[in-house]
Amino acid sequence: MAESPQVVKKAVKIVVPPVMQQNQAKAAEPSNPEKPQTIAPASYQKTKVVISSGPTTGNNGQKETVVELQGVSKIYGQYENKVYALNNASLKVLKGEFAAILGPSGSGKSTMLHMMGCLDRPTSGKVIINGRDMAAVTGAEVATFRGRNMGFVFQSYNIIPRLTVMENVMLPGIIAGYPRAELEARAKDLLKETGILHRADHKGVHLSGGEQQRVAIARAFINNPTIIFADEPTGALDTKSSDEIMGILKKMNEQHGVTVVIITHNPKQATDYVRRIIRIKDGQIVGDEVNVPKYAV
Ligand SMILES: Nc1ncnc2c1ncn2[C@@H]1O[C@H](COP(=O)(O)OP(=O)(O)OP(=O)(O)O)[C@@H](O)[C@H]1O
Ligand SMILES: [Mg+2]
Repeated sequence: MAESPQVVKKAVKIVVPPVMQQNQAKAAEPSNPEKPQTIAPASYQKTKVVISSGPTTGNNGQKETVVELQGVSKIYGQYENKVYALNNASLKVLKGEFAAILGPSGSGKSTMLHMMGCLDRPTSGKVIINGRDMAAVTGAEVATFRGRNMGFVFQSYNIIPRLTVMENVMLPGIIAGYPRAELEARAKDLLKETGILHRADHKGVHLSGGEQQRVAIARAFINNPTIIFADEPTGALDTKSSDEIMGILKKMNEQHGVTVVIITHNPKQATDYVRRIIRIKDGQIVGDEVNVPKYAV
C-alpha cells in the first residue's frame, strides 16, 4: 500500500531504517549515544524487487538485465540533517527498455540515476551493471567502465562551447581511445540521426538549447553504450523542442536497441513516450508499470 505523504515526509527526515543503521554504525563518525534510535515504519523494512514485465526483450527473447539495484540507499548529511535521498530501492532495468523515472522535485530521481550510472556510490546496497557488482570496482576503473558502457544526457547539455559540434560528439570516444576515423564516421551518422549534421562544423556556443541537446544525445551514443541515462533532458526546453528531443530518444532506443532511462517530473511526457514508468516518492519506489506510449516513431 502506498504510504501517506505525511508519514513518508516525516520519515525522510528522522527515521533511520535498519539497513541504514548498520551502515551508519560502520561509518567512523563521532557517535551520539544520547540520541534515541527511531524504529522505521514497516513500509521501510520491505525490500521491493520490481521486475519489468514490459514488452522489451534481449537476445533470443531472453530478458537480459543491464542495471540492477539491490536495496540501494543513499544518505546525505548527518544527524538531524540526514536526508534519505534513496531508501532501500531495488529494481532491474532490462536490455532495450525505454523507461522513465517519474516523481516530484526532491523525490530522489537524480540520486537514483547517479547510483545506476555509477556517478556516486550508495550508502548501502548493491549496484550491479551488466552482471558486475560495482562495489568491487575501483574509482579509475569505474570511470573507464562508465565511459565505455554508459552515455549521459543532462538538462544543461554540457556542450563545450569552444569546440565544434563534431569535436563535442567525438570527445568521449577520443578519451576512450577509439580510432579517430571510426569516430568521425560514427559522429556523422549520429548527428544525422539527431538532425543536426548541418551544424557539424559550428561551435557549440552558437547553438540553441534544442540544438545543443541533439548534439548531447549524439555524444551520449558515440561509444556504443549499452545504456543511456538522461536527467530531465527536456527540462530547459519549450514544448516543441521537448517533443522533438523525446522523439529522437525514442527513435534511438528503438533503432539502436540501447536501453534508455530518462528522468522526468512530467507525467504526460512519460506516458507519451516511454514503455515503462518507475514512480519514486521520498526516496522510495512506489510504482513500476508498463506503459503503452502515445507516439509511434
Ligand atoms: N549532495 C547532496 N547533499 C545533501 N542533500 C542532497 C544532495 N543531493 C541531493 N540531496 C537531497 O536528496 C533529496 C533527493 O534529491 P534528488 O536530487 O535526487 O531529487 P530529484 O528527484 O532529482 O529532484 P529534482 O526534480 O528537483 O531534480 C533532496 O531532498 C535533496 O535535497
Ligand atoms: Mg533531479
